[in-house]
Amino acid sequence: MKTFNALLASAAMAVTGFAGTAQAEEFRLGLITPPPHVWTLAAEEFGTALSEASGGEHTVTVFPARQLGNEADMLQQLQSGALDMAFMTVAEISNRATDFGAFYQPFLADDMAHAAAILRSDEARAMLDQLPGSLGVVGVGYGSAGMRHILTNGGVTDAAGLAGQKIRITPFEANLDFYNAIGAAPTPMPLPAVFDALANGQVDGIDMDSELIVLLRYHEHADTMLRTNHMMFPMVGLVSARVWAGLSEEDRTMISDLMGAAVDGVLTTYVERDAGWQEEIRDFDVTYIEADRDFFGDAVAEWEGIWEERAGEALETLRGVADATRE
Ligand code: BEZ
Repeated sequence: MKTFNALLASAAMAVTGFAGTAQAEEFRLGLITPPPHVWTLAAEEFGTALSEASGGEHTVTVFPARQLGNEADMLQQLQSGALDMAFMTVAEISNRATDFGAFYQPFLADDMAHAAAILRSDEARAMLDQLPGSLGVVGVGYGSAGMRHILTNGGVTDAAGLAGQKIRITPFEANLDFYNAIGAAPTPMPLPAVFDALANGQVDGIDMDSELIVLLRYHEHADTMLRTNHMMFPMVGLVSARVWAGLSEEDRTMISDLMGAAVDGVLTTYVERDAGWQEEIRDFDVTYIEADRDFFGDAVAEWEGIWEERAGEALETLRGVADATRE
């Protein structure tokens, strides 16, 4: 029996090698966001576009809200070919392909428009080339879920106020390192578990983006919004490398173009809507504090020290891109 790695390698070879013949496919696409979320809507639009472009040959059934498991589960399913496609946080990818942790350099991007420019760069795109070989998935392009902020309780006004606070984070190493550097008690938790944890006091606060604060009304269980923009939060459109290997060249191009356009459209949506969501949050019954790199004292430098060791080259590359795309 072939080992998993050998199977992955042959699937990866097929990514750039032989293409299958065209045949009708009923694809399944998984993601963890709830039905009205920007990612879920984009996934459905992609499905419609693929069906139209293929003259009804191909369909995409979208499974939102962790119906197929958390992102780690879905990544395994993509690797085995049990799942065809996913829109997934780069956070999950960065737990296995360390270079991707470089996107989470605190304050790499100034705001969502800057984050979008970084994610659209050739350098960011080139990072996707390693995915078939290392993870058994094909990355067709980046989306995002806005910038990260901290919504919390306890009347926090400075970083010292976050010390010891249980802050929910998305489960990935780069984020864990940041909150450890702050001196908080980071509590990794997948998105669907966040609302209850905040509402029942299991955590003091949450690391979150503005869309979801508005959409899921997390603010009703918090007293302070720290508008930090402290990290970007990329997403990637993925196809199983095994599934890809069986697709015709024509289908690969169609899927890559249409899914690429769908995730890129997500970037545009966040650029256009982020300020509006922030305005809504300002009007909520929370203290609204605008914080920057200085707010976090030495924590950013501490994070950078850790990640220089792990992904120094990728950090440097993305810093260069950030400088070149800063307006
Ligand atoms: C989160 O873990 O906070 C998250 C995941 C996916 C989309 C948006 C947010």
